[in-house]
Amino acid sequence: MHIAHDDLLSDVLGLLTGEHDPIANAANTAAAIWQHLEGINWAGFYFRQGETLVLGPFQGKPACVRIPIGQGVCGTAAARGETVLVADVHAFPGHIACDAASNSEIVVPLVQGGVVIGVLDIDSPHLARFGAAEQALFEQVAAAYVASLAA
Ligand code: SME
Repeated sequence: MHIAHDDLLSDVLGLLTGEHDPIANAANTAAAIWQHLEGINWAGFYFRQGETLVLGPFQGKPACVRIPIGQGVCGTAAARGETVLVADVHAFPGHIACDAASNSEIVVPLVQGGVVIGVLDIDSPHLARFGAAEQALFEQVAAAYVASLAA
């Protein structure tokens, strides 16, 4: 068991309990990720508006505001409807460099009723920062966020 992961997940579940606001819950989820995990330089949300992902609440440096579906790591995860794990962003064709310090990245789609409504994106300055354990963790976080939206 990974203690930081368990703490993050229980914190997120606590923060989201009883609250359904999409912006508030995204903001607190991004802040909880930022508080609990080492070795990350960006954590946040993009929300889908038609064929574009638009920046939502996040922690880290200011980021690209609009990413077309299908482009970059975020747009690829949104288009596929599945998590994209990138050990070295410089080796990912079409990677969009918002922060030059980023070296690895994981993007989990937010799927609500079979529809991708956005993505959860986490970046790290370390190569291969994210593996299967992080993928499982962030997929649980993303599922908790989506579940929190239901009134
Ligand atoms: N690197 C992402 C863009 C978003 S920033 O990392 C915050 C991408 O390639 O989609």
